Amino acid sequence: MKIAVINGPNLNLLGKRETNVYGNQSFETYLDKLKQLYPSVEFIYFQSNIEGEIVNAIQDYGYSVDGIVLNPAAYTHTSVAIGDALAAIDAPVIEVHISNVHAREEFRKLSHVSSNSVGTIVGLGLMGYELAVSWIINNKV
Ligand code: DQA
Repeated sequence: MKIAVINGPNLNLLGKRETNVYGNQSFETYLDKLKQLYPSVEFIYFQSNIEGEIVNAIQDYGYSVDGIVLNPAAYTHTSVAIGDALAAIDAPVIEVHISNVHAREEFRKLSHVSSNSVGTIVGLGLMGYELAVSWIINNKV
């Protein structure tokens, strides 16, 4: 079982960035925990602040992994290109947001990703990633 976790812009700053919204933990620390929780899963982790690199990663992994856990961060709300990439690939995608985007600014309510995802998890903090992994494991075709 291979799962790609793809994070978008500024998520490399987790633990330092707006800690009241996103918490105190870095993603690297959390990723270690995720690997311990699911030792049978081979995780690929990719983070970029650049839209086209995220599109490339979706294309690169989208035909070979069993699932993608994707937090496109701010590009969620703006990127037609990421939405189109998701429509093209075979792997099921779970969209994750650490914060509850529906309880924040109006512009965060639009997602170019949701309609091309199996489901969306918002507002449950980093735990959203492990719930998404659990779904992929339990729904492997
Ligand atoms: C986010 C929510 C986005 O609106 C924001 O731009 C982010 C992070 C989240 O995980 O809550 O950078 O995707």
